[in-house]
Amino acid sequence: MALLEVSALSVSYGRVAALTDVSLKVEEGEVVTVLGANGAGKSTLLKAILGAVPAKAGGITFADADLTRAAPHRRMAQGLVLVPEGRRILISLTVEENLLLGAHMRRDGQAVQREMDAIYARFPNLAERRHMLASCLSGGEQQMLAIGRAMMAKPRLMMLDEPSLGLSPLFVSRLFDLIGELNAGGLSVLLVEQNTGRALKAAHSATVLELGKVSMAGNPAVLAADPRLQDAYLGGGAHP
Ligand SMILES: Nc1ncnc2c1ncn2[C@@H]1O[C@H](COP(=O)(O)OP(=O)(O)O)[C@@H](O)[C@H]1O
Ligand SMILES: [Mg+2]
Repeated sequence: MALLEVSALSVSYGRVAALTDVSLKVEEGEVVTVLGANGAGKSTLLKAILGAVPAKAGGITFADADLTRAAPHRRMAQGLVLVPEGRRILISLTVEENLLLGAHMRRDGQAVQREMDAIYARFPNLAERRHMLASCLSGGEQQMLAIGRAMMAKPRLMMLDEPSLGLSPLFVSRLFDLIGELNAGGLSVLLVEQNTGRALKAAHSATVLELGKVSMAGNPAVLAADPRLQDAYLGGGAHP
């Protein structure tokens, strides 16, 4: 069974249908990317998987458990974590306090400390600034902190909502390197991106949403060569 399976999921905000009949799978150890224009329903999909918005129809199973109606904290306890759009770190807390927030559900203090050491080893900029307010960090560092905070929960599946948005090209490269390294370490990833080219290169499979429905899905290399995707998201030009 897949680690995450979303089947025929529909979500509405009042009368507005944000997702209709959306299905996708993340196998253990995979990076799966979800692409689509603004308003396509990408963030709604991640929020529904986390349980922050309710499913109107369809199902969500994760790690062999039906979580369709489970509260968000139960889903997080199962190993789901979301790095939300716009990072949402707490700028009035220190770097270290932000990291510790990510571990608030864990009781194994020593393992939490080891996790934090590992994060500091990976992000020297965060280690140097551990006692400074998060507001002192650059945008790229704040994104690293948001990911570090999510890592503190020791997730099985990390969902990232447009993590490259607003980052400098250097940080975008570092971000995609990091996603690759975390995945090589065994973490499964569900990646929502507007950076279609980079996301397709990073992913094992891809799903494109259009107006809340799946319009294309499958092998990223095949999708990258698809004229429809070229026109819509890759700037066209690669075909007559
Ligand atoms: N809290 C909300 N209340 C009402 N409509 C919403 C809300 N959040 C999103 N929507 C609508 O749902 C649709 C999908 O939005 P969203 O999931 O944010 O798309 P994306 O992340 O792909 O840009 C859009 O039409 C958006 O206007
Ligand atoms: Mg969004």
